[in-house]
Amino acid sequence: MPDPESSQTLESLLNVVEKFPPPKKLKEQAWVKSNKIYEKAKRDPEGFWAEAAEILDWFKPWSKVLKWDPPDSRWFIGGKINASYNCLDRHVKTWRRNKVAIFWEGEPGDRRVLTYSDLYREVNRFANVLKKMGLKEGDRATLYLPMIPELPIAMLACTRIGVIHSVVFAGYSAKALQERLRNAEARLLITANHGYRRGKKIPLKKNADEALQDAPTVEKVIVYQRSDELTPMKNGRDFWWHELMQTVPPKCDPKPLDSETPLFTLYTSGTTGKPKGIVHVNGGYLVGTAITQKWVFDLKDEDVYWCTADIGWITGHSYIVYGPLAIGATEVMYEGAPDYPQPDRFWEIVERYGVTIFYTAPTAIRAFMKWGEEWPKKHDLSSIRLLGSVGEPINPQAWLWYRSTIGGGKCQIVDTWWQTETGMILITPLPGVTVLKPGSATLPFPGIEADVVDEKGNPVPPDRGGFLVIKNPWPAMLKTLYRDPERYRRTYWTQIPGAYFTGDGARKDKDGYFWIMGRIDDVMNVSGHRLGTMEVESAIVSHPFVAEAAVVGKPHPVKGQSITAYVMLRRGVKPAEGLKDDLKKQVRKEIGPIAVPDEIYVVEKLPKTRSGKIMRRVIRALISGQELGDITTLEDPSAVEEVRKWLKTVE
Ligand code: WT7
Repeated sequence: MPDPESSQTLESLLNVVEKFPPPKKLKEQAWVKSNKIYEKAKRDPEGFWAEAAEILDWFKPWSKVLKWDPPDSRWFIGGKINASYNCLDRHVKTWRRNKVAIFWEGEPGDRRVLTYSDLYREVNRFANVLKKMGLKEGDRATLYLPMIPELPIAMLACTRIGVIHSVVFAGYSAKALQERLRNAEARLLITANHGYRRGKKIPLKKNADEALQDAPTVEKVIVYQRSDELTPMKNGRDFWWHELMQTVPPKCDPKPLDSETPLFTLYTSGTTGKPKGIVHVNGGYLVGTAITQKWVFDLKDEDVYWCTADIGWITGHSYIVYGPLAIGATEVMYEGAPDYPQPDRFWEIVERYGVTIFYTAPTAIRAFMKWGEEWPKKHDLSSIRLLGSVGEPINPQAWLWYRSTIGGGKCQIVDTWWQTETGMILITPLPGVTVLKPGSATLPFPGIEADVVDEKGNPVPPDRGGFLVIKNPWPAMLKTLYRDPERYRRTYWTQIPGAYFTGDGARKDKDGYFWIMGRIDDVMNVSGHRLGTMEVESAIVSHPFVAEAAVVGKPHPVKGQSITAYVMLRRGVKPAEGLKDDLKKQVRKEIGPIAVPDEIYVVEKLPKTRSGKIMRRVIRALISGQELGDITTLEDPSAVEEVRKWLKTVE
């Protein structure tokens, strides 16, 4: 296993002197006012989660909070629940029926406002559409949609009748969609004629048609018409969303589902070329997302909350769809790019809707810094009272800029650490109690036991780098990998004895604060998108001229990491003009634009270990200009010199 110390950045080693305690006003009105909650949860974690579960409406109460047979967890056993009921019906029965659920803004400037009643009506009808298409509990539907209200509507309609949704990010290519449709054995695909990105139309239906050329389980396709533009429709297979909606009754009863039945699968990248289908279930996931949404964001009925993520990723699932709607929040949803038509699009939106809680990613913050203060300064951002960050470590400089320029120097920042697998935020400040240190995700959420350990699972001393692990089960934890329980066990539960292995390196300071240092496995984080080096490598290698490829993430001032590829051609192939462009096209076709390497080098050979493994980690460390620490004791020491020499021949 790699040594996490080697990825320690200078910044994370600096002793940060400035601390930010919660302002008095925030402390007085926050949902969580006292840090006694940590002790309480520690004393009786199951009791703590049982109390948390009261945040939801259950059709039938659970008989037991937890059964833990590592690595298998079962939460709220015997409980019956429905996510759509919790996100809609229960609000519609109260004064919230006419409360705004979603202020939606399309990239071209079109706007829609949906109250909880509006959402309720749409979801009920669409659930009946799903039934009409022959879908029933346990079936899979794949959703390949832009950031339009129909995406949460389709998700909630699935959950209403127990259909398992699998959302595929609309930036993925036809090929990537196909792979996910096949793995999920989806019966239905829901898409749109196209989406918008930076003014361009993304041809989703065209991609879908291509994907469906070899996705035999898909019987039907529902197409939402995002604009007048026509798209070919296949008779008997393809149906227009708006036409189907007119043919069904307006009400569909939510199905009481066992708390442990799957709610959704979401594919994420791992250390092999094959994406992993993370499985989350109804009960625990909803408890975990709802309670963290309320406490971490201190979300009140008067707030206007905006999470800028895409629903195609876990952040959007947990903190645009399930978390906010379960607690009856008012939120903003935006379809497009932050710099379209100008770099102040976000700030214009904040001002228009009076956003009070703003949640975004460090890569976006660093882009805002680069674009310049004049853009946020053009708008009144004084409505903002709390800021959030997620997706990668936030450097203290970006943290301080975020606080002063976007937060007007008055807002706390919740730096939230979690993963697709964890489903919910696990390491985070509680805004009313936690003293912040810029760059630190601070402390585990109540009831969560995290630690930094060595390879044997022993805690390392303060300020030493190690592996970030979670030591006890939590309600929103993944259940398994779809159709691959063995990979689930191996990936997360065998690397460090007795703990969940996150794949991140971290250190804990003397106050117990966590400083996340980033991935220590072969997973990259590019502009907040998680990508496997092997995935990109296999895309490149699928080009007929390529024999082998090594892909590594290289530190990048805005993106966090950028992709660098070293490519070895097949014998006899001469590097021709245009080859690099062809390889980029190949990656775009196999995965999507997010995975296209910034730099490609054609090389004569690749540095390998004696067993034939490409020494990605040594390459990565050396191109990042990092000192290698203990790395030499773990591998053939001469490997480092080899790679150093090799890199010289490349650049
Ligand atoms: C990886 C998970 C669930 C959030 C969206 C990404 C990194 C996430 C933080 C943070 C430092 C972070 C980790 C983690 N990460 N949040 N606040 N500070 N690193 O979800 O695609 O599943 O990626 O993102 O490396 O392992 P994901």
